[in-house]
Amino acid sequence: MALVSMTALMNHALENRYAVGYFESWNMESILAVVDAAERTNSPVIIGFGGQFIGSKKRAIKENIHHYGYLGKAIAMQSKVPVALLLNEAHTVDLLIKGLHSGFNAVMYESHDLSFEEFTNVNRYLVKTAHFLGAAVEAEIGQLPDSDISNNTISKGEKTDPDLAAHFVESTGIDALAVSVGNVHLLESGHAELDFELIRCLRKKIKVPLVLHGGTGIAEDDLKEAVDLGMCKVNVGTVLKRVYLKHIQCYLKKNDVDHMDPHNVIGRGGEADMLCGAREAIAEAVVKFIKIIGSENKAHLI
Ligand code: 13P
Repeated sequence: MALVSMTALMNHALENRYAVGYFESWNMESILAVVDAAERTNSPVIIGFGGQFIGSKKRAIKENIHHYGYLGKAIAMQSKVPVALLLNEAHTVDLLIKGLHSGFNAVMYESHDLSFEEFTNVNRYLVKTAHFLGAAVEAEIGQLPDSDISNNTISKGEKTDPDLAAHFVESTGIDALAVSVGNVHLLESGHAELDFELIRCLRKKIKVPLVLHGGTGIAEDDLKEAVDLGMCKVNVGTVLKRVYLKHIQCYLKKNDVDHMDPHNVIGRGGEADMLCGAREAIAEAVVKFIKIIGSENKAHLI
């Protein structure tokens, strides 16, 4: 298979009443785990990285987005299922443009500091550039609340206004719209309360595929209902880092690594390899989502 357009994946999902998952990665094992899961379930998938993390000014070591783009593209091209490659929620246009030139075939800009007009203009520019390069653009109208595990709070968000969203889609030409419909980013405790009436209304008014972020914090039945109502892309991030960390934590508790051959712990790939186990833990979590959102066994139909 090959790198496939994110728009093609979302449109197939929309026409066939399922959703395609975007499972956010941060390193080699995590991105390979997503493809492992997709191949195991014969599912199309969107792989990629979080632009807000890779491009963060707070990083101790500055990252080169080209490394991530070329890596992601190579993995997509070697995959047995259709794969799109997204540079998600980047806070600078510069990072997104570099991303487009390094292999990403979908991008999303995120800023909550711009006026509606400025945000529209930035997205118009991104659409022009991305479409010229054969790539897709996603944008969000409204704002998801963020959950903060350190103090158990959820920030105030803003639900998507259907008329404003329709106007934005028309005037930018974006390919996918992320919506704020009660979903919450980074929510690990409890479940978000989705506004199904708003989803119905958005599906009627918005001409492009709709995207549900915050997949970690959505209950299984709610996720199924949202997909049934026409959500055709679901983003999942936090839970994948959680299962990765949990695996490593358990491994280090169970094993006296000071007295083990480090090659057996990392890199040899045998049963005792900690990172292989962590990769498998991510793949299992991704498989669960793939089954819930209905993309299993759809790869060969695209
Ligand atoms: P979660 O981390 O809450 O699953 O959300 C991921 C996401 O929406 C990335 O865009």
